[in-house]
Amino acid sequence: MDRFLIRGGQRLTGTIPTSGSKNAALPALAACLLTADPVTLEGIPNVRDINTMERLLAHTGAIVQRDGNSVTVAATNLDRPEAPYDVVKTMRASSLVLGPLVARAKVARVSMPGGCAIGARPINLHVTALEALGATTHQDHGYIEARAPKGLQGKLVTFDKITVTGTEDLMMAATLANGETIIENAAREPEVEDVANLLTKMGAKISGAGTSTIRIQGVARLHGATHRIIPDRIEAGTFMIACAITGGEVRIAGCQPAHLGALIAKLRQAGVTVEEENADTLLVRAGDTLRSTDITTEEHPGFATDLQAQFMALMTQATGISFVKENIFENRFMHAPELTRMGANIRIDGRQAIVAGPTQLSGAQVMATDLRASASLVLAALVAKGETTIDRVYHIDRGYERIEEKLQAAGADITRIS
Ligand code: EPZ
Repeated sequence: MDRFLIRGGQRLTGTIPTSGSKNAALPALAACLLTADPVTLEGIPNVRDINTMERLLAHTGAIVQRDGNSVTVAATNLDRPEAPYDVVKTMRASSLVLGPLVARAKVARVSMPGGCAIGARPINLHVTALEALGATTHQDHGYIEARAPKGLQGKLVTFDKITVTGTEDLMMAATLANGETIIENAAREPEVEDVANLLTKMGAKISGAGTSTIRIQGVARLHGATHRIIPDRIEAGTFMIACAITGGEVRIAGCQPAHLGALIAKLRQAGVTVEEENADTLLVRAGDTLRSTDITTEEHPGFATDLQAQFMALMTQATGISFVKENIFENRFMHAPELTRMGANIRIDGRQAIVAGPTQLSGAQVMATDLRASASLVLAALVAKGETTIDRVYHIDRGYERIEEKLQAAGADITRIS
């Protein structure tokens, strides 16, 4: 298993490019199952979760061809509409094929996702939503099987809880249902809007994506399209925080500032200068002091839970007490004990972490647990005194494309040890 070796103390400077969004690419790849025509997606990052989804699509019978950061999927024959356990256990976002398979192939067999490091993360809301559209489901041997032999029927569906992939799953299924589907309490993440834009290019009739109410008029079939995925706001946000924690000055290129409003506001509150240089470039410059700042994770457009661990690492260097509240997942503080081992002063009280800073971090041997917790350990290592080794960096490779190369190019002393 690969490890990172990081020597702290280098200021980041220069320009860091943003890759395509993993969390827009995953549902976009699943959407390709909705048509027999080839769909080409551009700006697809080369990260483990995407490779997993490509393998899953091929398993169902689709032809998947990758050319650099473009992927073409032709789901002409779906002869195995299922997501097997050995794929789903490595990536719970495999549940995104449930809706498209039921809608297109009239049947889907998807392994239930096991537990996940950051929480139970069931898919009950996905299943209930598809049942509302007339699918019949039953669970056995760890699989959920959904059937709709006569097709799906458009309905009003109100989500009990806001769910990003649940919204995407239902929206994709509804594109081929009979009649109109209205989704209430829908997720408003930019990735939901991006999938809706792809589906519209494929011939779907969707309005309201990006708001809490999405309307979908079902059509008989969808056709091929070409679509460029939005940039990854979580990757961009991670690099903005990397700049701030090292006292650097960095341009984040190829991003969408409009997707980063909550983080920009909090970084400014902490004393970091953030300027929108143009439509797709953010200039980030650390101030001479870092002020303690409270965050509470919320659904978009609130502060993203996927940036909580990274911001906590930054607050270990801020002067004062910072309160970090995690409202989305029940167990998303696993980075805290590792940061504490590096010298951070963090106390966990239920869904709240209290960070006292600044503390001088010292390099240590630490272990990655989940994707974003691992990113926060990289950030801490960039400012820690001495050498840090991070084991199990495959967690990081799930969602960050060539992170060590991008950081090296900006001046970080980081190497991958295979
Ligand atoms: C998406 O996961 C993202 N993944 C996650 O990013 C992100 O953390 C999360 O949204 C929240 O923003 C992708 O888009 C592929 P949810 P998702 O359904 O859709 C509960 C990363 O690091 N819930 O919005 O799985 C759930 O347990 C990943 O890139 C149910 O109870 O998250 C959670 O507490 C991590 N039943 C809350 O809702 C369900 O059926 C929000 O989850 C579904 C969800």
